[in-house]
Amino acid sequence: MKVLASDASGLMEAADLLRAGSPVGMPTETVYGLAARFDDLAAVAAVYEAKERPSFDPLIVHIAHPGELSRLVCLEAFSPTGLAVLQQLIGLWPGPLTLVLPKSEEVSDLVTAGLSTVAVRCPDHPVARELVKRTGSPLVAPSANRFGHVSPTRACHVQEELGGRVPAVVEGGPCQVGIESTILSVDAQGRMTLLRPGVLSREDLCAMIGPVQAREASEGVTAPGQMERHYAPRARLVRLPGGVDTLTESSLRGWAPGEGRPLALLCVSPPEARVLKSVEGFYEGPVHVRVLAPDGRLATAAQNLFAHLRELDALEPELILVEEFQGETGLAHAIRDRLRRASRGRHS
Ligand code: TXA
Ligand code: MG
Repeated sequence: MKVLASDASGLMEAADLLRAGSPVGMPTETVYGLAARFDDLAAVAAVYEAKERPSFDPLIVHIAHPGELSRLVCLEAFSPTGLAVLQQLIGLWPGPLTLVLPKSEEVSDLVTAGLSTVAVRCPDHPVARELVKRTGSPLVAPSANRFGHVSPTRACHVQEELGGRVPAVVEGGPCQVGIESTILSVDAQGRMTLLRPGVLSREDLCAMIGPVQAREASEGVTAPGQMERHYAPRARLVRLPGGVDTLTESSLRGWAPGEGRPLALLCVSPPEARVLKSVEGFYEGPVHVRVLAPDGRLATAAQNLFAHLRELDALEPELILVEEFQGETGLAHAIRDRLRRASRGRHS
């Protein structure tokens, strides 16, 4: 897989590939996506195939400008109240917010997995928007990982995931947000339901726009992609009920007998030296630590989350132990959501 620079010639090459029907790795501010023209069904099918994604899991369509929404969405279906809500939400673009809306005729069933709604997002990454513009078409882009794996937040992660399957990825640097967009469904009356938590929280949306239903509380909302097993590393991942200081020898033995393979610790903040020493004392094998938020900021933790998980997984540990994330902010909730799904693993 070629890594293309995000300069004029790299972008031109990427846009040529996209126009010719080939999927291309694309940076966004959340995670890297695997892009293809939304109206080229062979290219969309190639995205599902490269990811090994089941065709019942719909894709997000990325646009460069909110004006392009009218092509993808059946705006005539909206009531005046619905349109007013939509207008406010679009005011939050570009950014890590995906809107699930009634689809127009132009959007194929392959993109939406047969649903009558389409997910649309205007990303806040200049390279993503430039690619949409240069290709001359909105681009579908699921996260550029094989299905169920950890999402990529660097171009080299896309190479690891899809090398040999996709010809190129555009280099856009490390993703600034680090976890996938908030997904909000909006019906024609403007009623909002949160389908996936993200950096933009339900509380933020409630404060700015109006009441947002939690997905659990809603009825009749189809979100086939909200799989329980998702974002999974190869190694088994266990969430601790608290910090590593609460780890005991017997609980560790229960999870990992310690047969010489490494133990991986994903900590929120740097563990105290004495805590680490005691874990090293009762584990027979090397102990590797990654700290998600050395500066104590949740935004830093989100940026590091998938990259650290990937690094630890590459060490082929017997177990990845993750400290519990405290806090009630939207971001803390979104990080816990990713870790909960990752802990479901690929083993069951
Ligand atoms: O931040 C992001 O959203 C990234 C970047 C690349 O934009 N994309 C991303 O795509 O996370 P993906 O495919 O990994 O996750 C999209 C989720 C899936 O869970 C899918 O089921 C859901 O969006 N989705 C897509 N269309 C939907 C629809 N019409 N109704 C409900 N859920 C939908
Ligand atoms: Mg994904």
